[in-house]
Amino acid sequence: MSVLPTAELHLHIEGTLEPELIFALADRNGIELPYADVEALRLQYRFTDLQSFLDLYYSNMAVLRTERDFADMTRAYLTRAAAAGIRHAEIMMDPQAHLSRGISLATCVNGVASALAHSEEEFGISTELISAFLRDEPAEEALAVLEELLAMNAPIIGIGLDSAEVGHPPSKFTGVFERAHEAGLKCIAHAGEEGPPEYIWEALDVLKVSRIDHGIRCMEDEELVERLAAEQTPLTVCPFSNVRLRAVDTLADHPLPRMLERGLNVSVNSDDPAYFGGYVDDNFAELRPLFGLTDNQLRQLAENSVRSAFVTDARRRELLAEIAAWHSGR
Ligand code: ADE
Ligand code: ZN
Repeated sequence: MSVLPTAELHLHIEGTLEPELIFALADRNGIELPYADVEALRLQYRFTDLQSFLDLYYSNMAVLRTERDFADMTRAYLTRAAAAGIRHAEIMMDPQAHLSRGISLATCVNGVASALAHSEEEFGISTELISAFLRDEPAEEALAVLEELLAMNAPIIGIGLDSAEVGHPPSKFTGVFERAHEAGLKCIAHAGEEGPPEYIWEALDVLKVSRIDHGIRCMEDEELVERLAAEQTPLTVCPFSNVRLRAVDTLADHPLPRMLERGLNVSVNSDDPAYFGGYVDDNFAELRPLFGLTDNQLRQLAENSVRSAFVTDARRRELLAEIAAWHSGR
């Protein structure tokens, strides 16, 4: 069975650090990890909520020291993503999580960007880079990092907002997003993952984002669902992530089918695939039989990702043609 060609719009590059690579990078950099081996590290991958995951996610980043480390992590993702059917990827990174450890912006940005620069020729995957800001840190810090990214002419297409959601509403970052819009950057934000539907309203109306990451809690607000459906706002949904972080009880309880039924513009993404049990193809492999997704519905999900991507019209047409070819070959 041929793999569904799709775009991945919700991926944190630091969330692709597989345990084996964490150990290899620790070894290379002379860092002692607080785990005996890969298996002992894997045993930590049981989360009770978003924060319990974030604690491990940030702590594992200690192994990323050099440009080469960031490039190796990125290439490992691209290799796996190619097998998963990813044909275009919009990749978030968390610069503040590296700056706070004494790693320069140039090291992390150039490391990831150097691998992305060869992605089309090496993997056939077109890519874009997005700088995400940590919403549980002060907005002033995010603004300072944004200014530094702009000053160094960093190869980013946009900005996002991630990390611990509850208690950190989008409106806290109004000034940062105003500056990003002014600089011509695309704007996206995590909202409605653990946080309430009000955060989705704010991300749309205050931050004026063009995409919502997750957004699953929109289903609690009928007026919001109607608006998102009418405006076809992209919602980059991550089913495995929502189960692992206990935003939903089980995959069978995931709102994805109901979101599709309501005509929402949803796509399937992996978020932090090394931590949540798999990549986009793994998500589809479980979702398909569980919800009895038809080929038409799979096509719809892939087309949604492509029409929501920050690509040229020409690239969008190419990607849609690949999806159509997949469909006609079924
Ligand atoms: N950073 C990495 N993954 C995240 C997620 N699922 N939600 C918020 N911040 C994140
Ligand atoms: Zn995310």
